[in-house]
Amino acid sequence: MHNIYLKLNKHIQTALDSAFPEEAAHAKKEGNLLNPQLAKATKPEFGDFQINGVFSLAKTLRKPPRQIAEIIVKQLVKSDDFNSFCLPPEIAGPGFINLTIQNNYLTKELISLLTDEHLGVPFATENSDDKSESVIVDFSSPNIAKEMHVGHLRSTIIGDSLARILSFRGHNVLRLNHVGDWGTQFGMLITHLKRVAPQALEKANVVDLGDLVEFYRQAKKKFDEDEYFQTCSREEVVKLQKGNNESLQAWKLLCAQSRKEFQNIYDRLDIDLCERGESFYNPFLSDVVEDLQKSGLLVQDAGAQCVFLDGFKGKDGNPLPIIVKKRDGGFNYATTDLAAIRYRLKSKPNGDGASRVIYVTDSGQASHFAGVFQIANLAKWVPQGCLLEHVPFGLVQGEDGKKLKTRSGKTIRLKDLLDEAIERAKADLERRLLEEGRVESQEFIAKVSTTIGIAAVKYADLSQNRITNYQFSFNKMLSLQGNTAPYLLYALVRIAGINRKGGNFDLKLTYPQFTEPQEWALVREILKFDDVILEVEKELLPNRLCTYLFELSQIFNRFYDQLPILKSNEPSLSCRLMLCRLTGDILRKGLHLLGISTLERM
Ligand code: ARG
Repeated sequence: MHNIYLKLNKHIQTALDSAFPEEAAHAKKEGNLLNPQLAKATKPEFGDFQINGVFSLAKTLRKPPRQIAEIIVKQLVKSDDFNSFCLPPEIAGPGFINLTIQNNYLTKELISLLTDEHLGVPFATENSDDKSESVIVDFSSPNIAKEMHVGHLRSTIIGDSLARILSFRGHNVLRLNHVGDWGTQFGMLITHLKRVAPQALEKANVVDLGDLVEFYRQAKKKFDEDEYFQTCSREEVVKLQKGNNESLQAWKLLCAQSRKEFQNIYDRLDIDLCERGESFYNPFLSDVVEDLQKSGLLVQDAGAQCVFLDGFKGKDGNPLPIIVKKRDGGFNYATTDLAAIRYRLKSKPNGDGASRVIYVTDSGQASHFAGVFQIANLAKWVPQGCLLEHVPFGLVQGEDGKKLKTRSGKTIRLKDLLDEAIERAKADLERRLLEEGRVESQEFIAKVSTTIGIAAVKYADLSQNRITNYQFSFNKMLSLQGNTAPYLLYALVRIAGINRKGGNFDLKLTYPQFTEPQEWALVREILKFDDVILEVEKELLPNRLCTYLFELSQIFNRFYDQLPILKSNEPSLSCRLMLCRLTGDILRKGLHLLGISTLERM
């Protein structure tokens, strides 16, 4: 209903301008408008929209709210155009104005969705008010030679969905995998492997990621205990950073090995990513330090080059430096992120020319990003109108509220987690088939359980407000009841069933006539898809889309359970099939934007 919202807003502004010309002109001069605070209605009985701003207008205009509401309404209904799509407004309580859109107007909007691939969602383009932007989504970003953990899984799922939604809106999206492929871990790892498995540094496929992670653990232990090992590791890092051929060769092999494992997970999750790891920014690190020096931001502190920022204090209350060059000449995670910001915001061909950069990581990195964003701003690397945003998320916990672990207390491997989701989905499905006396092929069972298992994991993550911690529960996420992937997938299966039984909607339908409240509730919900997408684009909260799809499914199920569809007579039959078709289109598109594949039968 975004268009309707804009249209209404215009009418209300015009009404205010005509009713209060002096005050409106004054407000405009100050650079603001008399704000009616038009919003979606909070309850169906309030209609479709409500004007909430009468009370603050009353203060500005020095009149009682009720009187202002009456003046606005009187002005609104003077317009023929307004009366052609909106019912006479109702004043509620001390001065709320409720607005209900006329049925025939809603029907018209609904019909236009039938031929709109974008289902009513505006598409941003190069030359329009709704301008398409270059957006980078930095997500997933695991570290080489370390296991990809559930935090990376959250980042991967949330980042992918945001990238899909932004592309769907017409933005140019670059999906970057900022893998940790540089730094001290390689010094340790190479030193250790040289001693225990030198062949792994010379030939591909000698070790897999599981081994690498174990080697890394051993190396880290040695590093912490053994001084000589430490010196060797540091030398290895220096050799690598200087571009020593042998070291580079070993580094490449290790990266390739990890990459293969990561790719396995991405393939299973259907995630598209462009790998551009930390090593990419290596050539720009010294420029970053130089730039900061020039802008007078750099301070020497105990031999290190640092930046001190307002509001960055340690536990003792003393200012906390952000180190960009260590005493030994090495660079930090922060330096790499500064180089990345500089590169991403610089115009092409020396940069990405992005105007919005979104970082999806756990909230533990919030102060890191606040720091580097502040430095980038102070160094004037952020052109006007460009936006750097950290999209934080909470921890994944077990059902006991503690960190998610295996029964034996080890960290869970993603591969095992996905396997288990699929296994359990399969067991559920087989139980259901037995109960319903259905016989299905192994192929069907495999496909359905894989789709449901992966969908459940993704949806459970996305449907939570990402800021909070979330409790991982296979039972909840796989349930056919409640706000879960199986529940949504099932609504689509119902619609596919109707189509199979010959209920294919005929586009030639002449003007639909909806009569039942269950139909109207569905019409209204279908028309809210565009609002939700625009909201997610702004607030970067995919759970809003999940809630919407869940509500749409509930309203659809009520309609399906309470009204005959295939057994109804014309014109109801066509009208109802039209609602099935549009509900299906939106559910499918919405799930696709969450990265979830759908099924015809389950
Ligand atoms: N590799 C990091 C980690 O595992 C995440 C990187 C996020 N992106 C960034 N530009 N810093 O915690």
